[in-house]
Amino acid sequence: MESYKNLAKALERYPALVDLFIYKELVKGSPEELYKASLHLIRAGGKRLRPTITLAAARMLGGFEAESRALPLAAATEVFHTFTLIHDDIMDQDEYRRGVKTVHTVWGEPMAILAGDLLFGLSYQSILLGRERGLSDEQIRAAFEVLTEASIRVSQGQAYDMGFEGREEVDYHEYLNMIYLKTGALIEASAKLGGIAAGAPSTVVEKLGEYGALVGVAFQVRDDILGVFGDPKKTGKPVYNDLRRGKKTVLVLYALKHGSSEQRNIIMEALKGKLPEDKLPEVAEIIKETGALDYAMNLARTYAKNAVAIIDDIESSGLVVDGEYARVLKELALFSVEREK
Ligand code: IPE
Ligand code: IPE
Ligand code: MG
Ligand code: MG
Repeated sequence: MESYKNLAKALERYPALVDLFIYKELVKGSPEELYKASLHLIRAGGKRLRPTITLAAARMLGGFEAESRALPLAAATEVFHTFTLIHDDIMDQDEYRRGVKTVHTVWGEPMAILAGDLLFGLSYQSILLGRERGLSDEQIRAAFEVLTEASIRVSQGQAYDMGFEGREEVDYHEYLNMIYLKTGALIEASAKLGGIAAGAPSTVVEKLGEYGALVGVAFQVRDDILGVFGDPKKTGKPVYNDLRRGKKTVLVLYALKHGSSEQRNIIMEALKGKLPEDKLPEVAEIIKETGALDYAMNLARTYAKNAVAIIDDIESSGLVVDGEYARVLKELALFSVEREK
């Protein structure tokens, strides 16, 4: 991570801070099985990028004090994210995440639904705990608004994602809107929450939101790429599940549009679950041959660069008190696209 040295430094500190808050102050109670199921994925790891964005944005605009006020908001984003992952794995029927069995695979769907529900509730409780860390009622209200907006959008995005499985044609605009909703909206919220904790003016909070939305789209395009070309030992998730489930990722959309009719037929068979397992690597080859992989990487890089430009813009406003954390946010945008996990 040589070219990501500021980000690497932040990642040495933030995930541990967030985890301590989650374990000691947030996710505790009974019955034991419910809490075990809820903590399963949290214990298994994860990058903690959403809370890192919240904390870095707060630090950039309000220094160390804003960063510590932001901790409950940062924890809220991670706990909310975990809720969406648990329910997403039920919807996508995925058996592995973060290198471990998914929650519904271990505890069954009813308990996994509850574990997700619990974490959803706790994400709001985490914001309330911000009161004890110096957030004003006004800041807590603003944080509720931001998380509520994200929560609605994630559901909309997940519904589009599922709806597209059963459709043969989806255009780029529909795909981009879907990934903004399912993934971009929570990253947008994570960035805005940092600005709220810092007491930044609403224009700057909005700009942070734009940064997060752009990072989110770039991040999801990379997720789609890793779903075909990633190394499961690094990602903790198997490859080709998006193909098996008929997901309309940008890779598939581009390859269907630019492939030969023979290539299109192979892709369509895969998406309908009719292609034999041993032929799935052929679809990955087609995705490369048609230029879909290059197209997707360029698309993601463009979004990441635009996100960086927004941080430059915030810096030129003169409101940045800690430039190192502006660099953390810029590196995080670029890392989202180059990451291997
Ligand atoms: C996975 O998110 C789900 C998406 C929105 C793409 P991450 O890639 O941030 O997953 P973890 O938290 O690091 O496991
Ligand atoms: C990511 O969904 C968005 C949410 C979990 C809300 P995906 O289904 O694309 O993500 P992975 O690949 O399972 O992590
Ligand atoms: Mg999934
Ligand atoms: Mg999904």
